[in-house]
Amino acid sequence: MKRIFAVILAAAVAFFCVPSVSADEIDPELIAAAQADGELIVYGSCEEDYLQAACDRFELLYNVRVTYRRLSSAEVQKRIEAENGSPSADVWFGGTTDPYNICAGEGLLEPYEAVNASHLLSPVFRDSEGAWYGIYMGILGFTVNAAKLKALNLEIPRDWPDLLKKEYRNLIWLSNYSTSGTAQLILNTMVQKYGREEGIRYLVDLDRNVQVYTRSGSAPAKNVGTGSGAIAVGFLHDGISQIVDSGSENLTLIIPSGGTSYEVGATAIFKGARHGSAARLWIEYALSPECVEQANECGSYQFLVIDNAEQPPEIARFGLSPDHMMDYDFEDARSNTSAYLADLLEALGPAVDSRFQ
Ligand code: F6P
Repeated sequence: MKRIFAVILAAAVAFFCVPSVSADEIDPELIAAAQADGELIVYGSCEEDYLQAACDRFELLYNVRVTYRRLSSAEVQKRIEAENGSPSADVWFGGTTDPYNICAGEGLLEPYEAVNASHLLSPVFRDSEGAWYGIYMGILGFTVNAAKLKALNLEIPRDWPDLLKKEYRNLIWLSNYSTSGTAQLILNTMVQKYGREEGIRYLVDLDRNVQVYTRSGSAPAKNVGTGSGAIAVGFLHDGISQIVDSGSENLTLIIPSGGTSYEVGATAIFKGARHGSAARLWIEYALSPECVEQANECGSYQFLVIDNAEQPPEIARFGLSPDHMMDYDFEDARSNTSAYLADLLEALGPAVDSRFQ
């Protein structure tokens, strides 16, 4: 992973002054076909501000009407599985990798060989069959309200085992394993680090310290930013947003010292999409600087994964580094997430439901 990050950062510097590729370079026939479709329906699992900006710009650039809905990654997965090839939307934008891989394995995503995929920084950032493409990358870690911990005379946690200390009781915010792709990545990460039984036991022990489980993966960082919680487990770019855009100066970002995992935030076409040309045009657009550079303007500070986009300067400013990145096994997650989830929910028991928001 270190090499991939190095490539990303090198590309960020090398392309700093390169103007964006014009959206006009997209095949005019594809644009005409998309306009004949007339409409595009998007399910988005990134932050809503970014989702809205991406959809508005697509509509403006290509004169195709766009409607969108924000749903967490596992919620989209469940909906698309239930609709089984007659999807209520055309494309999926943003959200963690595992639900995309699971849907791809179930034949619920439509492969498309995107022209703009040539800009991806590494083959890691796409499905080999073209079922999904990466649009950003995020690191899992802890967003900590240092002032709140200091007031309680508590230390900042540095690694996963620290979160189990009993002094953190009711101070940790996490997202809901049933809805959030972030939470499912945490589940898979613990299973991969500690083994199936130990990993589940870790999360059951962690539950004793969890104050609230939120529906979406970014909500813990928001609540730790306001001081409702003290420690958020989730993506570190969601912590950056709280510092940069919500003025939560007391936050500290921690990459767990014993290793952590990452997401490749993706985009894909749903199998059976009713607006197929508009959906293919969306994929080309989503892999262009015109689309992904809006993330930064909307407070979404993930690493970008195409070579012609400018990286958000906040990544370097907050010293996010590839050190301690584990070799996350995406194939294990594709095959086993639902079994691990069933184990975990059973081990947590029905009492946890009252804290699932
Ligand atoms: O910034 C929003 C974000 O953290 C994305 O990076 C990620 O893909 C998405 O949220 C996951 O959301 P959820 O956990 O709600 O599925």
